[in-house]
Parts: sequence; C-alpha cells; structure tokens
Amino acid sequence: LADPSVDPDLLLASPLAPSKLSGQPLPPQLYGAERRNSSGVDLAVIAERAPLLAAGRALTSIPSVPEASSKGAAAAMDRLDAAWAGWNATPLAERCAILDRAAAALDAALPEYCALLVKEAHKTWPDAVAEVREAVDFCRYYAQQALHRLAPVALPGPTGEKNTLHLHGRGAFVCISPWNFPLAIFAGQVVAALVTGNTVAAKPAEQTPAVAARFVELLHKAGLPREALCLLHGPGETVGAALVAHPRTAGVCFTGSTQVAKIIQRTLAAKDGPIVPLIAETGGLNAMIVDSSALPEQVVDAVVQSAFRSAGQRCSALRLLCVHEGIADGVLHMIDGALQELKVGDPADLATDVGPVIDAEAHANLSRHVERLGREAKLLAERGAPGGSERGHFIAPAMFELAGVSAMKEEVFGPVLHVVRWGPGTAAPDVETLVAQINALGYGLTLGVQTRIDSRAQRIAELARVGNVYVNRNMIGAVVGVQPFGGEGLSGTGPKAGGPNYLPRFCGEQTVTINT
Ligand code: SER
Repeated sequence: LADPSVDPDLLLASPLAPSKLSGQPLPPQLYGAERRNSSGVDLAVIAERAPLLAAGRALTSIPSVPEASSKGAAAAMDRLDAAWAGWNATPLAERCAILDRAAAALDAALPEYCALLVKEAHKTWPDAVAEVREAVDFCRYYAQQALHRLAPVALPGPTGEKNTLHLHGRGAFVCISPWNFPLAIFAGQVVAALVTGNTVAAKPAEQTPAVAARFVELLHKAGLPREALCLLHGPGETVGAALVAHPRTAGVCFTGSTQVAKIIQRTLAAKDGPIVPLIAETGGLNAMIVDSSALPEQVVDAVVQSAFRSAGQRCSALRLLCVHEGIADGVLHMIDGALQELKVGDPADLATDVGPVIDAEAHANLSRHVERLGREAKLLAERGAPGGSERGHFIAPAMFELAGVSAMKEEVFGPVLHVVRWGPGTAAPDVETLVAQINALGYGLTLGVQTRIDSRAQRIAELARVGNVYVNRNMIGAVVGVQPFGGEGLSGTGPKAGGPNYLPRFCGEQTVTINT
C-alpha cells in the first residue's frame, strides 16, 4: 500500500502515479480532477506539509459560536423570505463572481482551514486537504454550471409565438449539513442554494460549528450580501426543526441520517401551505463485490481505502465486503496484513492513517455494535487503537465475517468492515442473487466491483440500485464535476452533488409564452 507518510521527500521526488482520470475531458480549474487520483494518494499533502503543520501549531483553540433559539430561527426565516426577491434579482454573473472569489479566498487559506478541520472534526491531514479542495471545487463548479444551466432557454413554438423557460430561486432555503464533511458539504449545499437565487438559512452540525462560521465570513468578504445568508448554530431538534417547520420555508437541503431525513419529510408534509421540496443525501450500506477473477492487491488497496480511511466516517464508505469463496481466504489474509500496517492515532500527526471517531456518542454506538458482532459474528482481523478518551475516541479498525448479506441491518458509521462469502454452496450462489440481496437492504449509495470480466462489471452496474458504482478502484472520494455523487432509496432523494443536474433542483421554473 502506498504510504506517503513513510518518506515524504522520496514520494515528492517520484513522478505522479498516472491518473485513471487522464484521457477524460475534465472540467477546467477543478482541483479534484487535476490533482487527485483514484489510488487515494494526495501528493499535495506532502508538498504543503510545512504550511499545514505551521497552521496546526498556530491554531491553539477552536473559536466558540453563539447558539440560536427556535424563536431566533423563525425570525431569521422571516428576514430571509423578505430578502429573497432582491437576491433573486441580482444578475446571475454577479452571483457567480461571488462564488469564484470565495473559491480563490478558500484556496489561499487552505492551511488554516485544514488546521480547523484537524482540530474540530479530528480529520487526518490528507483528508483535510482533500476536503478543502472539494469545497473550492464546489464553488468553482457551481459557478460554472450556473452560468449555462440557469440561462433562459428559448424553446421552439409556432410562428407568432415566443416561448422561453426561466429558472429562478424558490425563496428561503434551509440547508442542514453533517459533521463528517463540515466544510465541503456545508459549502456545497449553501453555494448551490445561493447561486440559484435562494436566500439561505444554514444549520451546520453541532459538532463542527467553527469551520462553518469561518466559511460564512469568507462568503461575506467575497461580496455576499449579509441578508442573503443566515448561519444558525444549535441542535437539530430545536433550531433545525424550527427552520424546517417555518411556514415560508421554500425548500430543504439535508445531508445526514436516513432517520432524520424522514422526520424532515414528515414535518414538511404535515405543514399547511405549499408543497416543499426536499433534497436529501443520507447514509449507505455500501457493498463491494469481489469475484474470483479480481486482482487481490488491487482489492486490498481498495478495501483498506474505502472501509478505514476517514475512520469509516463517510457515507460512501465500504461496509459490506462480498468476496467470492474461491479467493476469499487469500484476500482476507492480505487485508489483515494491510490492516496491521495502518497507523491509528492522533490526527495531528502527519503519519496517521486512521484518527478517532467524532465524539463519545459515536464511540458508544460503535462499541455496542462491535460487542454484538463479537457475540454474533466471527472476528477476522483487528488493528489495535489507543485506549482512553484523552487523545480522542478511538475505535479499533476491525473486520468481522457474517453469515449472509441479510445479517446487515443498518449503516455502521465507523471503521468496522463486515464480510460475507458468496459463490456455489453459499446463500448467494451467483452474482445476480448477490446483487438482489444487496438491493434488498434498501440503501442505494455506492457499490464497489472488483473483476477482470468487463461484461460482469456492466451487468452488476445494470442490476444494482445505487447512485455510484466504482469498478476496480476504491469507492470513496467522489470528485466534483467528475463523479456526481448521491443515492436512492434509503440513501436519499437522488440529486447528485457535484453533477450537472444538481442546481436545477434548487430552482423554480417558469415558462413564458408571448403571442407576438
Ligand atoms: N462525497 C464523499 C465521498 O465520495 C462522501 O460524502 O466519499
């Protein structure tokens, strides 16, 4: 496995691994497309390590933020509703220019934002760098997209009639974002809603308010009028609920758990007044299918990246490895070996591969799950982790074997990998049955496929009810403008963040027909 931390200078001196993205037409200026490759090695972390570590040392404490009340949230919605018409009338080019200036400012402040992500969200440095760049990419990409997706469209009509389709902001939009990508997802939601002409109430996760607050300051410095965006900190149960329940809420964009998405959907449905759209990106019970033709080394790299990087705290992460019994023993043995090589520890250390989970509550939930697996499943491998909670809440990365796919009940948001064997003599004798069992779990976010048989990869992609299929690589780290990201079923309402169809989901549409 590539380990950039072992000898950073050596890696810096070596040529870039060829990107699997090369050869594709890539959107201009996007970081992800230019500099990340699907092996997960982010060379910029190495190149930028001195400013990163200096920023880490300079950040001695996380700034505190004031919490909103339910009443404050309702008053903010009234103000945002009143400000909507003015912001929606701001020329599109001006709105896009604000996003471009924000992208440049964020890019210039990368080390400072990374330090905040390491400290507040316990990200490793490579994850922090990738996240800041993803946020930069969201700003640039949505600015580019808005210019042509939101321009009025002339439609054909009979002689003597002119038809034009216009897209516009819907009103005061509520954006509720999670702690696992407290900058990239927060920024992506907010700038998408703003650039399309909505005013925005933004409610970041309670665990990670400071990085969101810093980004909002940056947006205002980039020229965003104060009245177009209101940042509200506080619990989802009070502040989030008040925003969603407000009579003038024009739309909700939510990323988080399936359970909370359903609560939001019920709240919106129960209100008097207009039907309010919900854009939801929720969890995944993501599988990787490995057949007997797969390349074991490639499988091991993809599994370790997908299941354990970011301490498994990505909605895209691999939860269920389905490996063909013909190669299972060898592959699982190699994964165990790779697991033992991971450095689990303080995320502020540049060499760390796996940091702690977000907080004590996540730790308690994951610990309960691991205890249950200890009774009901077979432990295949485990990598020790620091004990106690002084340096963070660590969960030992581990791999357990289950009896079958249906033993998986819900998303487990941490570095715990579940394994099932498939093939003749098992509960999933062929790949069609296996995909049907995975589909029956009800989630539909990411799916990994490892095979050297192209027709099989195609067949699996056709059958699988998921938003993102990754063949012969890891299944995390969707790149803005390259791998539009989002799921279906229990995983969300479908719109793909970082894709060409995302912005219209924030818009109202009006067809104007003029009898000339
Ligand atoms: N977009 C992230 C990824 O692709 C998950 O939220 O890993």
